[in-house]
Amino acid sequence: MSKRVELLRASAGLAALALLAACGGGEQAGAPKAETPTTAEAPAPAPEVQKVASENYADYTGDAERGAAVFRTHCASCHVLEEGVNRVGPSLYQKIGATAGQVPGFRYSKANAESGIVWTEEQMFTYLANPQAVIPGTIMAFAGLPDPQERADVIAYIKTTGVKGS
Ligand code: HEC
Repeated sequence: MSKRVELLRASAGLAALALLAACGGGEQAGAPKAETPTTAEAPAPAPEVQKVASENYADYTGDAERGAAVFRTHCASCHVLEEGVNRVGPSLYQKIGATAGQVPGFRYSKANAESGIVWTEEQMFTYLANPQAVIPGTIMAFAGLPDPQERADVIAYIKTTGVKGS
């Protein structure tokens, strides 16, 4: 008789274990964790002229002489217009029409070098309003020229060195 009781207890114990296992197993057997589907990296969008200020370049006529003064005040601490002369910033010789990041011997940031920007007058006009907005991560430590006329003037001055590719 005692043997039978033991057997019964043993099987009851096993049943209890099986029940525990079944409950515990709920975690593994449950719904698979929601995973964000891995989508292929979207190709980088083609660089365009970004608008960071409301003005249109076409509404302004640059004055190179005034631009020389703007340049002296705001740019000359880091840039010169002479070909091949890099200072804190690269030479701005024939910068209009040039592709960003191409001056030999200047160590550009990756952001500038890989921006794909072509320095049309319109693009330069936008850039100079807020360089960090047009090239996020640029190492050009310049907050921008808020006055659109000053931007047009300094562009006219830079243009006196010629336009790249023309
Ligand atoms: C404090 C120094 C500093 C000042 C001031 C400054 N720049 Fe720059 N500039 C730089 C540096 C550094 C770079 C390179 C940026 C990079 O690699 O991210 C640069 C890059 C540029 C570029 C892009 C050149 C290229 O080859 O792609 C242009 C255009 C430019 N500057 C124009 C100007 C103009 C115009 C002014 C004045 C209104 C000015 N900068 C004021 C330091 C300066």
